[in-house]
Amino acid sequence: MIVCVCHNVSDRAIRAAMDAGATSLSEIRAQLNVGACCGKCLPSAKALVSEHHEEGAIRFTALRRELVAA
Ligand code: FES
Repeated sequence: MIVCVCHNVSDRAIRAAMDAGATSLSEIRAQLNVGACCGKCLPSAKALVSEHHEEGAIRFTALRRELVAA
């Protein structure tokens, strides 16, 4: 799905940037130019960043539980 129409940036590209180490909307903006034109994509991009952080927190919690149980 295209998130930023102005710069042709997909949700996959944003997820790939976060998987490669980007941790904030600012970093995503700097790398992919998301939101650098009309800005209509920023709420969707921000939601993807938040979703990525929540998924990371869930994975961390699951890993922590496994380590405590071991
Ligand atoms: S849709 Fe992303 S800057 Fe316009």
